[in-house]
Amino acid sequence: MSTRKPAPAIYQIYPRSFQDTTGSGTGDLQGIIRRLDHVAALGVDAIWLSPIYVSPMIDGGYDIVDHKAIDPMFGTDADFDALVARAHGLGLQVYMDQVLNHTSDQSPWFQAAIAGDQAMADHYLWRDPKPDGTPPNNWLSQFGLPGWTWNHLRRQYYFSQFLPQQPSLNLRHPDVQAHIAAQMRGWRDRGVDGFRFDVVTAYLWDESLQDNPPSTPQVQAKVSGETWNTYTYQDHTYDMLPGDGAAYVEKLRAWAGDDAYLFGENTSGNQSIELAMQFTTPGRLDAVYTTDLPENRGSPASVADMIARADSLQRIAGWLSSHDQPRHGRPDASNAVLALQMAFLPGPWIIYQGEEWALPQPDLAKEDVTDPLDLLQWPDGPGREGSRVPMPWDPQAVGYGFTTGTPWLPLAWDRDRVARGQAEMARFYARIIGMRRDMGWDTADVVACMAKGDVLDITLRTQDGSQWRGVFSHGAGEPANLPAGPPAIVADAMDGGTTGWHGAIWNA
Ligand code: NOJ
Repeated sequence: MSTRKPAPAIYQIYPRSFQDTTGSGTGDLQGIIRRLDHVAALGVDAIWLSPIYVSPMIDGGYDIVDHKAIDPMFGTDADFDALVARAHGLGLQVYMDQVLNHTSDQSPWFQAAIAGDQAMADHYLWRDPKPDGTPPNNWLSQFGLPGWTWNHLRRQYYFSQFLPQQPSLNLRHPDVQAHIAAQMRGWRDRGVDGFRFDVVTAYLWDESLQDNPPSTPQVQAKVSGETWNTYTYQDHTYDMLPGDGAAYVEKLRAWAGDDAYLFGENTSGNQSIELAMQFTTPGRLDAVYTTDLPENRGSPASVADMIARADSLQRIAGWLSSHDQPRHGRPDASNAVLALQMAFLPGPWIIYQGEEWALPQPDLAKEDVTDPLDLLQWPDGPGREGSRVPMPWDPQAVGYGFTTGTPWLPLAWDRDRVARGQAEMARFYARIIGMRRDMGWDTADVVACMAKGDVLDITLRTQDGSQWRGVFSHGAGEPANLPAGPPAIVADAMDGGTTGWHGAIWNA
């Protein structure tokens, strides 16, 4: 009998959009406490809180000024302690975001660097221009912006992999490392059980600062982002060294502690699954998640590709929606089938707030959008802000039960559709989250997997030796050779209008 650890079902909370208790129009920690019963009732094992640290919120909280302090917009230290206590009381672990790749440009370190403090400048990557005034090399930001921003006071460029307001940190610097170790220790001491590491594959660059070569069509197709994003035009050979980054996460493990649950975001694209394996060997992270499934909306081919390339799904967290991706709910797909497919995949499963109600991606008018990435790529970008529209707890109420004030984004939900999802889907999620654990799918091994057109056919062997077969049709395909007996669970009844979608699992 194996002693494989259960793979957690993790519920992602984007705090700004979860529950407001003050009328500010922005979610807060007390709001999370108020709604934790709902989360616990789903049967998940943990919550992951997107950043609640002090931030000017230029990148939705992923631009951090002080990683040790809670932004007053979310509440107080006492609120945080109460949240951790309540979560633990409900049997939920608490995972926090760690955004180590960069700080906000408002950080005292960066401001001191601009003011001429060389020791502080060494915490980042500053370089002189070429003699003709142009940037030191051809590196680009993942958002498709130039990677280098000019600062006239220092007469130097600094490097940033996302927005210019997010200067990249020099994570090899001993002082930076000491600071990170202390901040992680501080959160662990306050009861935090684990961390999600933002863009963990982007941490380190090659100090030779050579130009990246252009990407081949094969590489371009796999670099994260739309193929019209100039970032995909490069093979990221020198601006990110994921191999060194994989070794680096041993430091994160040492700082966080052996008992912490650690998972990381892989944005490197062209070697996503292979890197996920490197980042999760013993002494490193518990799991990594890649953008393969959400970018392909969980298609049979993307699941089969992931399974073929991974040594084990135990170390890859599956997900379909987040604060970075449009919600996967859409009229021509069945949320129930996709959810059942996710529940059946071994390994951790990250569920984004509202997914349990089959929330669709809402439309926003350009004038309502605040996310710089969405605005930059409007209307063709990833639609991140749509996924951040606040939770419609009570679809019939003014403010949808999210706020008594003016919400930070308009809650343009279809009230009837939300009400239907709330009535039907949350129960289904709770049922399949429970089955995943009780039947041992979460710790199972994949023994066969076939993707044929729109049909995905997977067989698992659980740790107790029982065999399960899951067949999921994404529209057009007709599943063949189905087991004779009745399935243990089916998913096709509840989303009308999604012709051809079904999912079923048999104890085979
Ligand atoms: C990934 C985060 O999830 C995203 O929201 C953010 O913009 C980038 N990393 C940069 O921190």
